[in-house]
Amino acid sequence: MKGKGIVVGVTGGIAAYKAAELVRLLVREEAVVRVAMTANAARFVAPLTFEALSGNRILCDMWGPEAGAMDHISLGQEADLVIVAPATANFIGKMANGIGDDFLSTMLLAATAPVLVCPAMNVKMYGNPVVQKNLEVLKDRGVTVMEPGEGQLACRSEGKGRLPDPPEIVEEAQRLLSPRDLQGMRILVTAGPTVEPLDPVRYITNRSSGKMGYAVARAAWRRGASVVLVSGPTCIAPPRGVDFKPVRTAFEMRDTVFALAPRTHVIVKAAAVADYRPKSTADQKIKKGPRALTLDLEKNPDILAELGKTDTFSGILVGFAAETEELLGNAEAKLKAKNLDMIVANDVSRKDAGFETDTNAVKILFREGRMEETPLLGKDQVADLLLDRIKVLWEDRGERRRGD
Ligand code: CTP
Repeated sequence: MKGKGIVVGVTGGIAAYKAAELVRLLVREEAVVRVAMTANAARFVAPLTFEALSGNRILCDMWGPEAGAMDHISLGQEADLVIVAPATANFIGKMANGIGDDFLSTMLLAATAPVLVCPAMNVKMYGNPVVQKNLEVLKDRGVTVMEPGEGQLACRSEGKGRLPDPPEIVEEAQRLLSPRDLQGMRILVTAGPTVEPLDPVRYITNRSSGKMGYAVARAAWRRGASVVLVSGPTCIAPPRGVDFKPVRTAFEMRDTVFALAPRTHVIVKAAAVADYRPKSTADQKIKKGPRALTLDLEKNPDILAELGKTDTFSGILVGFAAETEELLGNAEAKLKAKNLDMIVANDVSRKDAGFETDTNAVKILFREGRMEETPLLGKDQVADLLLDRIKVLWEDRGERRRGD
């Protein structure tokens, strides 16, 4: 979101306090944020809060000294995105019916930037046919409307009407700001560790956090791909918009991946699959005895290598190589042995890259021998870069197919 101009319109509902967090998150993503508030929103949260968080003047009053003469026209035309959060039933009604009686509603009448509306209100109000009709009018006009969340509402009722959590709104904003250049691509991403049970309370696993695979899934969804994420247990919430398939063991992961492979164009195997599993899983908790315990392990299937051999999958196959030594040599050997189109080599002994970190620096090796090295980047940036390269391979494969 670096440098993107975003106008956040805040209207007068109790969820206005959550808009403060939204602004903070957008600023953290390096967007340039301007906040326009209705007079009622300013009763809930002081404009100074938004001014401090955005670092910019707040626009409240058409006639006040803070608004330039043409701000109500220029703001929504120069912005890359306008987000109305929270959007009250009253404000949605004004938008749907072309009423411009304050700064924000007037600005929206002249706006040419994409608009994201995030309704938040009482459950009955949200269900009112006139509100629903107004939302339909907005959608027909190309406005993106985010479904409110369900749960306990500030008015002490239960149901649909909560403002989506600010990180979800940021996610949707990122999608709207992204190019839709992966539309038509069906991509399957595996992520996280697998866990191999010893008994009902113990298992063997590894340090994979799933962050890299989740970042690839999220970025692919933003860019318009249809995404399935097959994931071992992680602490990360499933990304919005992806078809999430939780698994535990390597066998479960293999079955899920193979069932979906025939309908998939691209498989990215970012998961850290356990290479071995206990030979047997005890039905009851294993009790400690007087002597040392030796575990018998047997080999798990190598899912990636099987995908490289099978006729079930003929798309683009991308692997990861987690290494602590001989990074390039080991990655190259895996690329060849597993018959991959591309492998992403990770030095997992680095503190700032690989497992558990938010950053990564990778070497990308291609089937025809080319190699590319990235600097240390955020995992989201690495994900976009990998998808750029995957897109070229995917388009090239499609071209060759057509030429066959
Ligand atoms: N992989 C897999 N199934 C396995 C092991 C690995 O699909 N049983 C995939 C991983 O998802 C990754 C790639 O193979 O994309 C390389 O995984 P990595 O752990 O780096 O290498 P291994 O092949 O397991 O070899 P080693 O552990 O000896 O380095």
